[in-house]
Amino acid sequence: MHPMLNTAIKAARRAGSLINRASLDISQIKVSAKQQNDFVTEVDRAAEATIIETLREVYPSHAILAEESGDSPGASHGADSEFQWIIDPLDGTTNFIHGFPQYAISIALAHKGVLTQAVIFDPNRNELFTASKGGGAFLNDKRIRVSNRAKIDDALLGTGFPYRIFDHVDAYLTIFKDLTRRSAGIRRPGAASLDLAYVAAGRLDGFWEFGLAPWDMAAGALLIIEAGGLVSDLAGESDYLNTGNIVGGNPKVFNQLLQTIQPYRTAALSA
Ligand code: IPD
Ligand code: CA
Ligand code: CA
Repeated sequence: MHPMLNTAIKAARRAGSLINRASLDISQIKVSAKQQNDFVTEVDRAAEATIIETLREVYPSHAILAEESGDSPGASHGADSEFQWIIDPLDGTTNFIHGFPQYAISIALAHKGVLTQAVIFDPNRNELFTASKGGGAFLNDKRIRVSNRAKIDDALLGTGFPYRIFDHVDAYLTIFKDLTRRSAGIRRPGAASLDLAYVAAGRLDGFWEFGLAPWDMAAGALLIIEAGGLVSDLAGESDYLNTGNIVGGNPKVFNQLLQTIQPYRTAALSA
């Protein structure tokens, strides 16, 4: 196993233990709103601090982009600063606050802007999803692959509803209506990183969501690619980490999903 992946796993497991302990008494957790419908708890912050400390201990020169503490450069400007960790310490905070057991820790590593390592850890089910560029995707050490369902009519799709920025809600609902008719079913579990990991594991055949942040998608995107699937932005390009809009799936469902979504693109949803 790649040593950088190993360190990321250690960080994710430490954060997972902390989150599991906190979940035993959610009534004690202090919640604050960053903006409308965007919550943060002391658990998000503590999990992030643990992850960063674990990574920095071994890789002090790597840069970090983390949801709660933002962008921070590494300790030096050498070759190591070309590495950047992209961290969501608790993806699915709204679920966590409600005791709804669907949330995860997501950690990815990019080298010169290319995703190279991915870890998504579900502390409720003790499921560890990992991938290294060129090395395949795994769930608890077992190789995973995207599904081979060929038609969108038979596909189970995942998505995320707009809940904070409502500029593209009309476009979203039109797409939702179309895909409700066309697919076998749609799920909205509430943690984008796990949704993407489920596509990699073949539990979902496709996924789409708009307005995500890089830390919601980075690890999940590499997992899907390494599991033999495809991911793109709405233009069919690979700029999803910047545009925030992502479509993913097994190759056949991905193509049909993208084709269904593309005609509804609006100014609010350029790519
Ligand atoms: C959120 C979850 C959710 C998605 C949101 C994300 P957070 O992350 O991934 O499924 O719909 O867009 O922001 O805020 O719980 O880390
Ligand atoms: Ca998130
Ligand atoms: Ca989060």
